[in-house]
Amino acid sequence: MERLEALGRISDDARCLTRTFCSPAMRRANRLAASWMRAAGMAVREDAIGNLIGHYPAAASRRKVLLLGSHLDTVRNAGKFDGPLGVTLAIACVEHLRRNRLRLPFAIEVCGFADEEGVRYQSSYLGSRAVAGLLPDSDLRRKDARGVSMADAIRAFGGQPARLKQARFNASRLLGYVEAHIEQGPVLEEKQLALGIVTAIAGQSRYQFTFTGRAGHAGTTPMRLRRDALCAAAQFILAVEDYAARKAGLVATVGQIQASPNASNVIPGAATLTLDVRHQADAVRRAAGAQFQKLARQIADARRVKAATELVQQTPSVACSKSLSGLLERATKRHQPHIVRLPSGAGHDAAVLARITPAAMLFIRCKGGVSHHPDESVSPQDVRLAFAVLNDFLKLLTDEYGRI
Ligand code: HGY
Ligand code: MN
Ligand code: MN
Repeated sequence: MERLEALGRISDDARCLTRTFCSPAMRRANRLAASWMRAAGMAVREDAIGNLIGHYPAAASRRKVLLLGSHLDTVRNAGKFDGPLGVTLAIACVEHLRRNRLRLPFAIEVCGFADEEGVRYQSSYLGSRAVAGLLPDSDLRRKDARGVSMADAIRAFGGQPARLKQARFNASRLLGYVEAHIEQGPVLEEKQLALGIVTAIAGQSRYQFTFTGRAGHAGTTPMRLRRDALCAAAQFILAVEDYAARKAGLVATVGQIQASPNASNVIPGAATLTLDVRHQADAVRRAAGAQFQKLARQIADARRVKAATELVQQTPSVACSKSLSGLLERATKRHQPHIVRLPSGAGHDAAVLARITPAAMLFIRCKGGVSHHPDESVSPQDVRLAFAVLNDFLKLLTDEYGRI
């Protein structure tokens, strides 16, 4: 818990916790987490995109690797636990093995992924997509709000954008990936349970919509002659909310909006907004995306403005590995008799790793289900329980692995 407090003080913004991809704060966070990994007997490396990876060797050489961990980046004005809790728990498990001079029949690699939230470049999972071999070179040309390309950001951080291919894990050597993460929702708290087993992770589509009208003088342009891009965007945002509210299980969020020229006495000529769409069923999510693009065109036409859409990135819904989840369940039952299985509405690096290796997730209750907010919090008791379950999971996997 002290380590989470320490990471929670490492921010790019003095006013709140914000730690984004390849930022100076990420450099300090990687350095601190690397010191914990080394103290736990791990060899530590940073890969070409800036993922922090600690390696704890197996009892014998050339054995398979179990991946543990989560992400070290945060959203803006974040809580301390979304991401870092999974990394510190994984490090604590390896420390436990080392303290007891235990080597397992498989190696463990603890990953602190460089970017799961996608705050800096809108396209999320950069770290886990790099190790999964799912990060196209075209992403390297994306620019952040200050016009810095992803390639330049990686270089400035000390990474090698030209060698991203080398960050890719050899999937045939992987046993699987297990991520402990706060639930970021209300279910565990409602059921008065500390831990839950994740069954599936909802897919997500991330769009950028741009409405283009005509800038003009706020004082001299009559309302009937305006082609106000921001009013078109506003009508679109409420139409999105209305559509999503009427579709079971669908969530759609406009999180960011930028008007230009963004002056109080100028009719906005352009408005750019992000749209995040999620649903457990990919077909429903994709249909909603198509419907939102149609809505944008209809609203734009009616207001004599233009609407342009970019699908920045989409990740399909994934089911968690039944075998790894089964071991997690057996380990959990030793500490919490009642088991709850639940889908994740939030995205996680496990959703990407599941594309190359079996992946499972352990959810930890968080107060009020609050996340992506400074009030995010977990109890030390629940964290201790998660730690005990992960250690028992490793024991069960060792027994199983002996039989695999
Ligand atoms: O947005 C999410 O679902 C995750 O927190 N990146
Ligand atoms: Mn997260
Ligand atoms: Mn998050």
